[in-house]
Parts: sequence; structure tokens; C-alpha cells
Amino acid sequence: MKIAFAKPSLPTEGAVAVAVLEGKVLSASAHKLDDEADGLLSRAIATSRFEGKKGQTLMILAPAGLGVSRVLLIGLGKAKDMDAQGAQAFGGTAVAQLLTSGETDLVVAVDALEGSALSPAEFAAQAGLGARLRAYRFDKYMTKQKKEDKPSLKKATMQVEAAADAKAAFARLDKIADGVFLTRDVVSEPANVIHPESLAAVAETLKDLNVEVEVLGEKQMKKLGMGSLLGVGQGSEHESKLVIMRWQGAADKDAAPIAFIGKGVTFDSGGISIKPAGGMEDMKWDMAGAGAVIGAMKALAGRKAKVNAVGVVGLVENMPSGTAQRPGDVVTSMSGQTIEVINTDAEGRLVLADALWYTQDRFKPKFMIDLATLTGAIIISLGSEYAGLFASDDTLADRLAAAGKAVGEQLWRLPLGEAYDKQIKSDIADMKNTGGREGGSITAAQFLKRFTNNVAWAHLDIAGMAWSKKDTATCPKGATAFGVRLLDRLVADFYEDKPGK
Ligand code: BES
Ligand code: MN
Ligand code: ZN
Repeated sequence: MKIAFAKPSLPTEGAVAVAVLEGKVLSASAHKLDDEADGLLSRAIATSRFEGKKGQTLMILAPAGLGVSRVLLIGLGKAKDMDAQGAQAFGGTAVAQLLTSGETDLVVAVDALEGSALSPAEFAAQAGLGARLRAYRFDKYMTKQKKEDKPSLKKATMQVEAAADAKAAFARLDKIADGVFLTRDVVSEPANVIHPESLAAVAETLKDLNVEVEVLGEKQMKKLGMGSLLGVGQGSEHESKLVIMRWQGAADKDAAPIAFIGKGVTFDSGGISIKPAGGMEDMKWDMAGAGAVIGAMKALAGRKAKVNAVGVVGLVENMPSGTAQRPGDVVTSMSGQTIEVINTDAEGRLVLADALWYTQDRFKPKFMIDLATLTGAIIISLGSEYAGLFASDDTLADRLAAAGKAVGEQLWRLPLGEAYDKQIKSDIADMKNTGGREGGSITAAQFLKRFTNNVAWAHLDIAGMAWSKKDTATCPKGATAFGVRLLDRLVADFYEDKPGK
């Protein structure tokens, strides 16, 4: 679907979406259309329960003579509460209502809103982003989809007086959406398609955007001493990989980079500590942390962010087999620290241990942020509203939380501490890989912290956020690409060269 921008003019065909504010207050465009159509909109509102509350919609099939075939009213809520996410939801809701409706053209009318901090150009650009994000589909394996279930919409035009400014603002957002779509694609793919080798190959496509990409195989990782990561993949037919992506966008190419590290378990069967069959198919998306890091690197490179950033993803498949790691095995990590593997299903932390150590050792980054579908316990704690945030650095934690709030990818900070760290003491090695059920997400984070070598670090446990069971205004159910917009925003707000600096 194409997203376009144009100056306001009443369309003569297709569908038109207009905004209504809370209390049935018509936006300027809605007003104009209502006059044009002899009060059609007002009458429809009067006979319905539509009040213009945020997220409410009312579809009106237009009578002959109006030109357009449908008018969609979308509630915006209160003008003063309208922000970027509200604008995205506006565009996304319009697309959600019309994507498979049979219409091919949609006009979304964007008006100046009195009392809103959002400029009309920014409103239109964000609505365009929401429209694009909501139009995402992953239906490549549906060979028998009925015609009426296929998208009909070809083009969504945001109409706004400041069309040129809106288009310019959208160009940047469009690159972020490219990153989001790459992440959604790889997270949606089944594990027989996306495995360590094929996911590494996807990361290599970032070379087209001038990202340097290196792929280490098992031989090289063995040489580096990555016994922790390699132990997880040793039961799989697929070769484990470590992918290193570098985007050098800062004016000073020698400036220390910021670093993102992703858990990329392309399938987590649990290994010998095998998971129950029910729901195991979900574990194809246990690489969502790696997927988000790859997508974020794509977004940064796509929009030519003025920052030096490194993305490192550990890619393994956790399978049971005759060569698989056993409970009780002791492995030696790249850091030299030894780990007793109590449970082969606590594998993500084993992968990240070596990926984190490698990253700080090689790049001496300003800070490291890892993203991982790490624990079921975080879903019990926070559900699907917030990802868990753990950090050794308060500034980094605060900035991450602020960036998350700004893009609607919310984070909730949980504690770290000595007492939790004690839970992973082992009788035979430097530590064990599980700390029991109590505080399961926290002890997992304590484990990771031991591999950060005191570099400023934050850990995002995204197990509850990577996959959505329901449609939202800007994301159809399925892979969400949680983390891509968050990391992009963190960079934009706090770590990019500013003009004149
Ligand atoms: N990938 C899982 C965590 C997970 C669970 C992600 C559900 C998404 C949805 C992780 O590798 C895992 O198995 N964690 C175990 C740790 C336990 C064995 C200490 C868990 O959370 O049960
Ligand atoms: Mn597991
Ligand atoms: Zn896992």
C-alpha cells in the first residue's frame, strides 16, 4: 500500500476518513463534508452511539451524488491529548477499517487541532506511519486466501495543508517502518525457514545500506572461547552464528559506539529440559530480541542516523539430540567464568553471556542494551503492557523509559541486587543458569550482569511484548517488532550528533 500526501480537496471516489473530537465535535474537514452532503454526517452521529471518543469509529455508506463511496468517522478524543501515538492510531484505524473493504483508495483528512501540541504536518506524517504500520500482512503462506480476505486498498493519501512538510517528515518515519517490517517478517517466519544461517543472511542484507556485517561461525566462536553460547546450539543441525553489524554515522568515526545485543534463539524447544508440547510453536519467535536489533540497525542506517552503533546478535537453535547439552553440564564462557547448566531451557542468558562479553571486549561501547524474550516470569509480572527493564545505570534506564513512553513501547524498571545475585550460586562452578522460581526475571538479569564487565548496561525482557494475540491500531496480531521504534527514539533523542555540535 502506498502512502501519499496532498493538499485538501474533496475526493470524487473511494473512501474518506475524517476526525471527530470528543463530544461529537466535527473537525473542519468533517464539517465541510457534512455541509457538502446535506448533514449526512450529523444525522449519522445523531442516530448512533458514536461520540468521537478515542478509537470509536462510524462507517457511513455515502448516497449517490456525493462522489466518495464511504465516509469513515474516527474519534480522536480530546484535542489536548492528541500526540504522535494518537495520530498514528488515527491513520492506523482508517486503514484497519478499509484494508479489505473492497475500496482501493482512501483519503485521510488531517486538520489543525486547536489545543494540540502536534503541528498539522507532524500529525499527517504520524498518521501516515500508523497507516503503513497497520497495513502490514504476513500472508505469504496463505495459498487459498479468498478474494474478500485479501487487501484491496492500494493507496492512502493524507490530506493536509502543509503537505510538503508532512511528506518530508514522513520520509524519516518511513525508514523506521522499513526496520519494523524487517523485524516483523523474521519474527513471523517459522523456524524451518528462519534458523541461524538464514537469519544471519537476512542481517547481511543490511550491507546494502552501508552497514558493515560480519558473521562468525562455530569455529571462530570456539577460538574466542564462547563455550556458553556454543553449548546451547550443540544439539542442533544448524550451525550457531554470531552476527556483528556496525553503522558508523557519527562525524567522529572513532567515537565509542553504543551497542545493542539481541537474543536470537531461532527455536527454543527447551533442549533436554524439553518444554511441554502445548504452545511450543510460539518458540519460533524466541529470536525477537535479535530481530529487533537487526530492524533497529536497518532503521538507523536507513535514515542515516548520526551515531556510531553496533548490533550484535547471538543466533542458535535450542534442540534436544544425542549431541545436545545436558542438565548438569559445566561450560566455560568467553569471560572465563564457568556456568553449571541446571536447566537447558534457561538458554537465552547463556547466549547473551558470550554476546555481551564479546561486545564490550571488542568495541568498548558507551553502553550496552540487550533485548531478549528471556523469561516466562516477566509475562506473569507485567503481562503484555510493559517490557521489563533492568539496568546498572540510572541515566540509561531513565532515557530508555522516556523513549519507550514517547513511542508507545513502555518499559517498567525492576530491581537488581546482591540478594538476588546469591540465588545463582553453584556448588560446582562460578554460577548456575537458573535461580529458582522466585524473582525469575530478576535472577536472569543478575546472570547477564555478570557478563557486562561493569560497562553501563540495560536489559529489556520483551517476552510479553514480542508477539500480540490481538490487533491494535498500528499492528495486526502477530509479531510487533517491539524495540525497533524504542531504540531509534533513544538514539534520536539522546545520542545523535546535533547540528552545530
Ligand atoms: N524463551 C523462553 C522464555 C519465554 C517464555 C519467552 C514464554 C516467551 C514466551 C526462555 O528461554 C525460557 O524457557 N525461560 C525459562 C527459564 C527457566 C527454565 C528458568 C522460563 O521462563 O520458564
Ligand atoms: Mn528456554
Ligand atoms: Zn528461550
